[in-house]
Amino acid sequence: MKIGTRVTLNLIIVFTVGILISGIALASVLDAKAQGEVNSKASALMEMNNSIRNYTNERVQPLLLPKVETEDKFIPESIPAFSVREIFEYFRNDPEYANFLYKDATLDPTNLRDKADQFETQIVNKFRENPDKNTLSGYRTISGAKLYYTAKPFSVTNESCLRCHSTPEKAPKSQLATYGTENGFGWKLNEVLGTQIVYVPAENILNNARDSFILITGIVVMVFAVVIILINLLLKRTVLQRIKNIASVAEQVSVGDMNADFGKQNKDEIGDLAEAFNRMKYSLEIAINMINKKRDNR
Ligand code: HEC
Repeated sequence: MKIGTRVTLNLIIVFTVGILISGIALASVLDAKAQGEVNSKASALMEMNNSIRNYTNERVQPLLLPKVETEDKFIPESIPAFSVREIFEYFRNDPEYANFLYKDATLDPTNLRDKADQFETQIVNKFRENPDKNTLSGYRTISGAKLYYTAKPFSVTNESCLRCHSTPEKAPKSQLATYGTENGFGWKLNEVLGTQIVYVPAENILNNARDSFILITGIVVMVFAVVIILINLLLKRTVLQRIKNIASVAEQVSVGDMNADFGKQNKDEIGDLAEAFNRMKYSLEIAINMINKKRDNR
């Protein structure tokens, strides 16, 4: 194998391994960054929803509860879970946030729009099996869109909630009139009943991470390719071409052409080699002349 080919091959191997290792590291860094970004959005929304819940509970409900007891139709604005969901729907009216979702996904909800679907039921079951877990997160695809979700377990910790969520007999008449007697009853204290789950679109953020990955890796590959080409050129110009010349001159000298010349050489290792060959050529010339003279004298 020629020296140039061998050097190129070795460089390609070293660079490929380098690009692979740095590529894996870069991918995991970008992935963690993208995940951190969607996660921080989801966490902020979750906190916001809790604030709405507390506000409705402390400030709105006390004003409306008397009406809930007396009017025929239930006033859902008195319910924190309702406020959170409705305010989130307002938030989703902005096209930029249309793909965000929030749900009080409950196994047996009062309002059936809060019913946990199959995926959310699995999350609720995970929380039931692991009581120490207080968040689960990951990716889920809903109608073609990739979403990142953060879920927290929901359980009733306050006896007062059970007035409306234990048996229809205890609940206000207006609640039964609006929601019926079938759904949202039989809840038990401290049992995981559902999950508060926020969905944040992840597609753009993940695509951005992928684009950055392709761009950075592309630049690195290009830089390496240029380096390989430059090293090759340099090797050819400063070493290989000159050695070839010296070899061909030496070849000519070896077949008796004493006029063959090594030419002007740079002052470097190869120049020294040419110089040494030159001296050898002269010594050879002198030796041959001496032999010829001796033969002529005979
Ligand atoms: C006055 C009756 C009443 C009380 C008290 C009450 N709720 Fe509700 N709750 C409701 C009604 C009615 C809904 C359905 C609202 C809607 O239309 O979204 C509801 C909905 C919910 C939901 C959403 C899931 C579902 O069932 O649709 C959660 C979670 C919830 N309540 C938790 C609680 C907690 C926790 C408490 C105690 C802090 C509590 N509730 C107290 C009547 C009540």
